[in-house]
Amino acid sequence: MEQIVIFDTTLRDGEQSLKASLNTEAKLHIARALERLGVDYIEAGFPVSSPGDFQAVSAIASAVKGAGVCALARALDKDIDVAGEAIQRAERGRIHTFIATSPIHVEKKLRKDFQSVVDMACASIKRAARYTDDIEFSCEDAGRTPREHLFTIIEAAINAGATTINIPDTVGYTIPSEFGGIIADIRNQVPNIDRAVLSVHCHDDLGMSVANSIAAVEQGARQIEGTINGLGERAGNCALEEIVAILKTRQDQLPFRTNVKTEEIYYASKIIRQRCNVMVQPNKAIVGDNAFSHSSGIHQDGVLKSKNTYEILAPESIGIPSSHLHLTSRSGRHVIRHRLSELGYQDGQDYHLDDIYERFLVLADKKGSIYDYDLEALIFLPDHRGV
Ligand code: KIV
Ligand code: ZN
Repeated sequence: MEQIVIFDTTLRDGEQSLKASLNTEAKLHIARALERLGVDYIEAGFPVSSPGDFQAVSAIASAVKGAGVCALARALDKDIDVAGEAIQRAERGRIHTFIATSPIHVEKKLRKDFQSVVDMACASIKRAARYTDDIEFSCEDAGRTPREHLFTIIEAAINAGATTINIPDTVGYTIPSEFGGIIADIRNQVPNIDRAVLSVHCHDDLGMSVANSIAAVEQGARQIEGTINGLGERAGNCALEEIVAILKTRQDQLPFRTNVKTEEIYYASKIIRQRCNVMVQPNKAIVGDNAFSHSSGIHQDGVLKSKNTYEILAPESIGIPSSHLHLTSRSGRHVIRHRLSELGYQDGQDYHLDDIYERFLVLADKKGSIYDYDLEALIFLPDHRGV
């Protein structure tokens, strides 16, 4: 099975979307959780952006051993030098330099012509080589860049020394067939592409970031960039926990492996929620509160008979202790008996199922969610104690 490199940018692309920047202590805490998770690279920050970020990236570079530590830099000498200094102590330090390549960014934002952009990219890659031989180059807004321009700048970047070429869908504009097509064309048209690892970095503006990344892997990308919980600019980045879960669950279609220890996903997700003060929606895939919770009576009955009727992966494999049966007026009699038996009460001995179930429905219609203490109250209400 081929390896997919997992590049985490929670501390850079994720962090830049927060209302308040993270301090060094918080960034180190998250970096430790990512190291434990087993990601291959931690993009620790953008050192030139502030003294605090420089300090945080340097601290992570010194502390982290299991993962490579990456610093972001625009294609400018100053950025590269500061990034190079920040990763100096890393066991495996990477500089990630980028410049926009789409006509709208080149003309309206950079106010340059395309050839100047190619020259700046090559100069920054060569400068990065003073600090490390692990250099990633990104064509910002690649998703809206004409193919010929992509082919030209990628070939030049590899000749200048880039070892990873990253294709960002910066504004989350593409759809999977299209994004997969871009990757396939790069693989077929750029003559020296085999000298670099081809990477993708997708944003979620149209909710396509995970699907686009998977389409890219099917067409030859071998590094995926993203964040835990999908944190990131605007609608966020590709959620890495979803990528890893897809690769684990669908090996029949996607014969790839990663170094991620999936049982550490939930822990990392929780640390990042708390430290970044950004919660995840209950129905968020893999790590949301409802991701392994079953509500309808039919589903609950199925899960009690065989978990894989409604669970395509085990919660334990993500680090979630168990799946959850959510008791509401949609729950059936079997699940009530099951839950009461888990609590130590037996039908016919401690209660009558017909009686309890009737009163459970009345309460659930009024109250919504029913918890263990509600069930116990139904048993021990004076009029209905015992049998
Ligand atoms: O989305 C983007 O284009 C980026 C680059 C810096 C890689 O985050
Ligand atoms: Zn991004």
